[in-house]
Amino acid sequence: MIIEIDSELHLELLNESHAQEIFELTERNRSYLDKWLPWVKYTKSKEDTLVFIKNSTEQYKNKTGMQTVIKYENKITGLIGLVEISYVRYVSEIGYWLGEEYTGKGIMTKSCKALTDHTFDNFNVKRINIICDVNNTASQNVPARVGYFNQGILKRDSYLNGEYIDHYHFVMRRHEWEK
Ligand SMILES: CC(C)(COP(=O)(O)OP(=O)(O)OC[C@H]1O[C@@H](n2cnc3c(N)ncnc32)[C@H](O)[C@@H]1OP(=O)(O)O)[C@@H](O)C(=O)NCCC(=O)NCCS
Repeated sequence: MIIEIDSELHLELLNESHAQEIFELTERNRSYLDKWLPWVKYTKSKEDTLVFIKNSTEQYKNKTGMQTVIKYENKITGLIGLVEISYVRYVSEIGYWLGEEYTGKGIMTKSCKALTDHTFDNFNVKRINIICDVNNTASQNVPARVGYFNQGILKRDSYLNGEYIDHYHFVMRRHEWEK
């Protein structure tokens, strides 16, 4: 499954053939990513990346999630995906990251817009959430640029690197997106 964005950029359903390249990208960006993402310190080998890919593949089969690699000029630059899909609450959540060397080009903004389109077209959800650390301005700028609404702060919403984190809660609802 491929989501075409433009001549240089597309999203590709995550599979085991991506493991080596994703692990190498994670290794190169360990200190950059670890500040924001809880899984980085637990990803110590290619086998850890493979476990994540296998779990994601299982989720995709059950239609409870979907992870894609972001390919820019045919290189993997990061990941974006639906970390959960609930058909009880009709809601999904997008998560994402890029290698630092690929930031500043609009890659994530375009990918987020394309995945939002794909999600409303292919899954029976009414709302997509994006949850960003209140100190992570680069991450907040992505849903803001795509047109998501900032619903406010979720206080002490998670625990990362020894402290509680407040999050901004961005949302897009189906009827607002269709306008
Ligand atoms: C969050 C993250 C993906 C944002 O990356 P980013 O490069 O800032 O976002 P984009 O790819 O959308 O690029 C936007 C930048 O490219 C510029 N840009 C260039 N061409 C552009 C285009 N066609 N469209 C939009 N922006 C464009 C924008 O001006 C912006 O630059 P600025 O930061 O100087 O204002 C990245 O910082 C990251 O992976 N961080 C670590 C992990 C993380 O925090 N994940 C999120 C957890 S919630």
